[in-house]
Amino acid sequence: MSDSLTFNKYAGALLGTGFVIALLINASGIVFSQDKVAKPGFKVQVAEETGGGAAAPEVPPDWGTVLKTADVAAGQATFTKCQSCHALTANGIGPNLTGVVGRKPGTEAGFSYSDGMKGFGAKTPIWDYQHLYEFLKGPQAYVSGTKMSFVGLKQAQDRINVIAYLHGQGSTLPIPAPNPAAAPAAAAAPAAEAKPGDKPVASGAAAGAEAPKAAEAAKTSPAK
Ligand code: HEC
Repeated sequence: MSDSLTFNKYAGALLGTGFVIALLINASGIVFSQDKVAKPGFKVQVAEETGGGAAAPEVPPDWGTVLKTADVAAGQATFTKCQSCHALTANGIGPNLTGVVGRKPGTEAGFSYSDGMKGFGAKTPIWDYQHLYEFLKGPQAYVSGTKMSFVGLKQAQDRINVIAYLHGQGSTLPIPAPNPAAAPAAAAAPAAEAKPGDKPVASGAAAGAEAPKAAEAAKTSPAK
């Protein structure tokens, strides 16, 4: 009789312990399941990062400023990407690019342009710096139907450098005067490096370089 009572005590103790263990397992289960809930949140973040939404509108460079500070040697190096199709002496897979800055799009003699490029030329007087900048970022996106099957130069500075290099290859388009309002750094750009053909522009650039001083003078003079 007392033996069976002792047995019951121990059995009860074991059951009780088991109950506590079961509770603990359940409790830890709750903790871990909460942990799992946190993970999908991180996944969403990764998806956002790789999704790459619509590009923010780019502010056009101030050409009078950026062309003077461009790395022409780097532009020449980038131009090797173009040379599988373009030369500076004759037409190849792509048209001769000597003199392309300032040329009307789709008009290099002897080159057979796509209808897309001919259409673009019909509404675009010349390849100016901004048009080249946009075109070289994503040729097919900018000139629909173009047969220039080049992915584009995504980095703004790469495009600026290559445009500065092309400007040195028979460009008929002068570099505009810096616009200090758009880019205050323009004041620092030297106006001295202009070529003989650029004379009217050089003086324009010099005038542009003077403008910030005038603006400063205007700011600091009376009125207050
Ligand atoms: C895979 C060949 C290929 C590559 C690489 C290439 N282009 Fe072209 N490019 C062409 C073709 C073809 C055309 C003519 C497009 C048309 O008719 O639609 C063209 C047209 C152009 C034009 C218009 C010329 C005009 O006379 O209107 C410019 C400017 C130009 N390319 C610049 C570049 C520059 C700068 C690079 C390098 C960053 C480059 N291209 C890389 C094939 C190429």
